[in-house]
Amino acid sequence: MCGIVGYVGGDEALPVLLDGMRKLEYRGYDSAGVAVVADGDIGVVRKAGHLQALVDELGATSLPGSLGIGHTRWATHGAPTDLNAHPHRDCSGKVAVVHNGIIENHDSIRAGLRSQGHKLTSDTDTEVVAHLIESILAAESCSLREAVQGAIEKLEGAFALVCVAAGEPDCIVAARQEAPIIVGAADGMGIVASGIPALLAYTRNVTPLDDRQIAEVRAGSVRIFDFEGREQSVETVMVEWSLDAAEKGGYEDFMLKEIFEQPAALRDTMRERFRSLGKVTLDEVHWSTEELARITKIVVVACGTSYHAGMMAKHSIEHWTRIPVELDLASEFRYRDPVLDEHSLVIGIAQSGETADTLAAIRFARRMGAKVVAVTNVVGSSITRDADAILFTHAGPEIAVAGTKTFLAQLAALNILALYLAQERGSMPPAKIAETIDAMRALPEQVDEVLAAQGEINRAAKRYAGARDFLYIGRGVGMTVAMEGALKLKEISYIHAEGYAAGELKHGAIALVEPGVPVVAILTGVSPLYDKMLANVEEVRARGAETILVAHPGDERARSLANELFEVPITKPLLTPVLDTVTLQLLAYFIAKEKGLSPDKPRNLAKSVTVE
Ligand code: G6P
Repeated sequence: MCGIVGYVGGDEALPVLLDGMRKLEYRGYDSAGVAVVADGDIGVVRKAGHLQALVDELGATSLPGSLGIGHTRWATHGAPTDLNAHPHRDCSGKVAVVHNGIIENHDSIRAGLRSQGHKLTSDTDTEVVAHLIESILAAESCSLREAVQGAIEKLEGAFALVCVAAGEPDCIVAARQEAPIIVGAADGMGIVASGIPALLAYTRNVTPLDDRQIAEVRAGSVRIFDFEGREQSVETVMVEWSLDAAEKGGYEDFMLKEIFEQPAALRDTMRERFRSLGKVTLDEVHWSTEELARITKIVVVACGTSYHAGMMAKHSIEHWTRIPVELDLASEFRYRDPVLDEHSLVIGIAQSGETADTLAAIRFARRMGAKVVAVTNVVGSSITRDADAILFTHAGPEIAVAGTKTFLAQLAALNILALYLAQERGSMPPAKIAETIDAMRALPEQVDEVLAAQGEINRAAKRYAGARDFLYIGRGVGMTVAMEGALKLKEISYIHAEGYAAGELKHGAIALVEPGVPVVAILTGVSPLYDKMLANVEEVRARGAETILVAHPGDERARSLANELFEVPITKPLLTPVLDTVTLQLLAYFIAKEKGLSPDKPRNLAKSVTVE
């Protein structure tokens, strides 16, 4: 949540800040602001609304200066107004701060600062930090970094803070406690950001700060200290994402671009793991075959779309490995007193690698002695430090808030892990494994076939964009697809949608069905349950529902019951979510477009949720 950018170097800071903020706007977009240091002063411009509102506000103002910080906000404390937009300053206007996270004890700090005569002007938790730094700089002769260190001693909560001071016009100070911040330096410049896309144009060697670290970033150099002021070594990771990947590249929206990048995301996620014929190679998983044989249960924890990937994985893991799988929302997991031991394997899934609840869940699991595998798309993200093994998805940067290509890549990674466990534990004949690998390898081309139907899906979207409620129903893995399809529609079109187990419909949700309500039903990959699914379709039709069916080509029974029919190619039943989901992503996207909404930046949401 919240996009943060800082720049120091030989160029004008403002264009670099705005470019980085544009790349990180997906992290928050209710207000934006910049602060640029020059001539012993700090120029600040802030504006409520999307980044464009700030750009309009800046107008011809160039805010000259070669050191600055910028912020796009996702409000936690204080409404999204100009006054609450970051950067926040101290009384003198000589210190400016941007922040992502929540400072839990800001009320008591604020009271203390007020009693010392500080004038705080916003409702945010962040502003106290600027005033704390001001107090320390006034009381002792110390550097900005030392003042930040002193200020954060008083803070409770989670934060990524980036601070500048008019008195130190060559240095940016960044500090991290449980919220991501990345720093980098190249020839003659230094850069700080809350997400990789903002740094890509300048450097590929980046340093994600660890918890309780402070960075001092200057043109061409980075120094890292712990919260006690001891200097630390600077460790860099190499980012392979291409610069173009964070641009729209001719598509109207990032979401559409990312939907169309799914064949590549699947290929890139599978390539190395399927390099030996008929076998799964997972270099990332270092446990011995004996250790893997001793796993007695698997628990999958995740949030949002990643949770749906986990729901799908439960089916393939149980079917292929015969290990029982529990599935938990990360926000619930550690509060329910789960039963875990050293024979439990916990899989944490987070495309961003930063979701606070998922991080807390896997840390808890490790404390309980469980083995933890993380599935993530972001190199250097927090989850990579908290897991025993990391399974990267190779989807490239995902900018649209609603997950699409990262979801498909997660499905691939989780199926790879499931097959690997089956292979190592001998629970699946090698020929079956080889056959499943072949089916997975065919998926990218099959996704292309689904994408080719975009015109038809767009036409149907126009017909249903006015609906108030949608129901999505499925059985088995089809239920996973229904849940994810409904979530996508809710997220970006603001239409109420429920994903339901088709068999459960008659126990409640069928009361919502009335003439005109669209019901999306997943008829693929359910062969033993196909007739039951069709019966459920008949039931909703009998009550006046309009049916949108996802079925395999040539399914005439489905056609006869469909107001709209979308065909997806045949694959193995457990792999059908990969194809079905793409249809439903396009349906949600085109409905949002028909309603004139911005699919990339749905209201109230943020791509990376770093608070609980
Ligand atoms: C936010 C996003 C969702 C995403 C969820 C989990 O709520 O808006 O699109 O699915 O976070 O994100 P993660 O990074 O944990 O996969």
